[in-house]
Amino acid sequence: MKKYIMIAMLSTISLLAACDNNNTTTHNETPAPEAEKPAVVEQPLVIAHRGASGYLPEHTLAAYQLAIKMGADYIEPDLQLTLDNELVAMHDETLERTTNIAELFDKRNDGYKVADFTLSEIKTLTVLPKGTAKESYPGFTPSAANPFDVPTFQEVIDFVKQQETVTKREIGIYPEAKQADPLMEDAIIEILSRNNYTADSKVFIQSFSDTTLRSTRGKEEAQNNKIPQIVLGVAVMGDDGIARLQIVQDKKPLLAFNEVTSFAEGISLLINNKTYPITKEYIAQAHAAGLKVHGWTFAKNDPVASAAEYKNYLDMGMDAMFSNYPDLAVKARDLFVQNKSK
Ligand code: G3P
Ligand code: CA
Repeated sequence: MKKYIMIAMLSTISLLAACDNNNTTTHNETPAPEAEKPAVVEQPLVIAHRGASGYLPEHTLAAYQLAIKMGADYIEPDLQLTLDNELVAMHDETLERTTNIAELFDKRNDGYKVADFTLSEIKTLTVLPKGTAKESYPGFTPSAANPFDVPTFQEVIDFVKQQETVTKREIGIYPEAKQADPLMEDAIIEILSRNNYTADSKVFIQSFSDTTLRSTRGKEEAQNNKIPQIVLGVAVMGDDGIARLQIVQDKKPLLAFNEVTSFAEGISLLINNKTYPITKEYIAQAHAAGLKVHGWTFAKNDPVASAAEYKNYLDMGMDAMFSNYPDLAVKARDLFVQNKSK
């Protein structure tokens, strides 16, 4: 995984000044003290949770584009499989919360499961704004032909690559396997490999299921293409002072960090959980084990309250933040890095 390094501008200027001075100094002069070297800070990542989902309908190309425009490092597509085994960007197992399917189709098997509809049927749907999201965002016109339909995972990847050309920066994808299903695992690995994602790409596969990630890791290793993985859970600090991960799904036993490292490069934690609070010590133990620590979901849209929340977790050492409002997350992250670099 590439490291994203920010060198503070002011420090760079003082380094250049120091170099310039060195040209005119004699060997007898005292060398520049260590303190004048530029501070190097690894930049925490901003992940647009379901796109800029606090502003526009979630998991649409419009929401992803707005997130990219706002400076998000990664966009997050949750993934579901259609009846004809196509991966689509959709959080829920069913279609009725986020789309107009109930206006267009009768129920199947008593419901509107993604798995009961073909891709061509799902492509006739429109994704609706939920929560604080609206149908449009001031001053922003989506460029995609169908910015509010349900995109396939391949369309999301194509769009990201196109946006990389437009913005001249690398944009990460952070797909989530929403079903613990070998068919879904195979489809995700196949599509990432086909699109040339490797261990060095800006990509994370995430899941609430360690079973899924252990399985995908095995499949990745068989293909000699170890794509970075992140397992989701809650932070449990034991009475013995040892930090472990609780997998939410299936109420499994706590996972030791050296176990997690056998199938994932990091953990992603539920923030603001009163029972299982994230602490600086917890994050330090994860880092010591070689794990990245990401957090979900930053959902405050009040600028002051959100800034305090981001700062709190960044100060503890969090490496990446899932946000519904990527502009606020980028602002808080940039301020954090700027202050660290002084
Ligand atoms: O993947 C982090 C976060 O997205 C998990 O929650 O329910 O929004 O997928 P959810
Ligand atoms: Ca997710």
